[in-house]
Amino acid sequence: MIIRKKLIAGNWKMNKTPADGVALVTELVAALGKQTDVDVVVCPPFTGLESAAKALDGSTIKLGAQNMHFEASGAFTGEVSAPMLRAIFATHVILGHSERRTLFGEQDAFINKKVIAALKNQLRPILCVGETLAEREAGTTLKVVQTQVEAGLEGVSKEQAATVVIAYEPVWAIGTGKVATTDQAQEVHAYIRGLLVKLFGDAVAQKVRILYGGSMKPANAPELLSQKDIDGGLIGGASLEARSFTDLVKSAAAVK
Ligand code: PGA
Repeated sequence: MIIRKKLIAGNWKMNKTPADGVALVTELVAALGKQTDVDVVVCPPFTGLESAAKALDGSTIKLGAQNMHFEASGAFTGEVSAPMLRAIFATHVILGHSERRTLFGEQDAFINKKVIAALKNQLRPILCVGETLAEREAGTTLKVVQTQVEAGLEGVSKEQAATVVIAYEPVWAIGTGKVATTDQAQEVHAYIRGLLVKLFGDAVAQKVRILYGGSMKPANAPELLSQKDIDGGLIGGASLEARSFTDLVKSAAAVK
């Protein structure tokens, strides 16, 4: 059996000035900077990436962005590209977050172009998928997730797929304090793993980390993280404070 290394990623969303970000990262480096049992990624807003990169230098904590455009450069006012992110030492990029989908109209085909561009530039995409409350209540959760995974990963090679991270984030659990039950989460994670087997074969599917996101906190993390197909977390609210984020990483490290 392949043991996947757990991954805990902090999605700061539109929070923290560069100075606030450096203060948080400095605390994280002190607490977790030599951590090797768990992969740790922080995703500040664009304005805080470069200063966070400097503060992270020499630690094992990695840097991610929260979005990017699929073109390398050009007339795309307000956007940043994968080569620009690579130039400031980002290694990961969150793509297709539900807030991008619902508030900014991003759709699967558009997100797929970003996934392809990220991979071409050696950035690891953290592709977010998940159903709304209405979709869960209508019984279409698995269908919705299937479409988002298949469309999001279209054209991705087997080799590239092994480097992709998927985040299952039920929209109704994001920032609401309503966490999915471990059974609800594990069911969808196992389903996604099964989809990956069909798309890329078993060997690749066993390598892909599938994160849970949506009100994950130190109190509920140990149970979620002990599920067979839950390989880490994409953390919003609890990533904004050093103590809770550190505790989440420790929870992930403690799971055997
Ligand atoms: P939350 O956000 O942890 O605040 O629910 C998770 C996310 O949106 O990635």
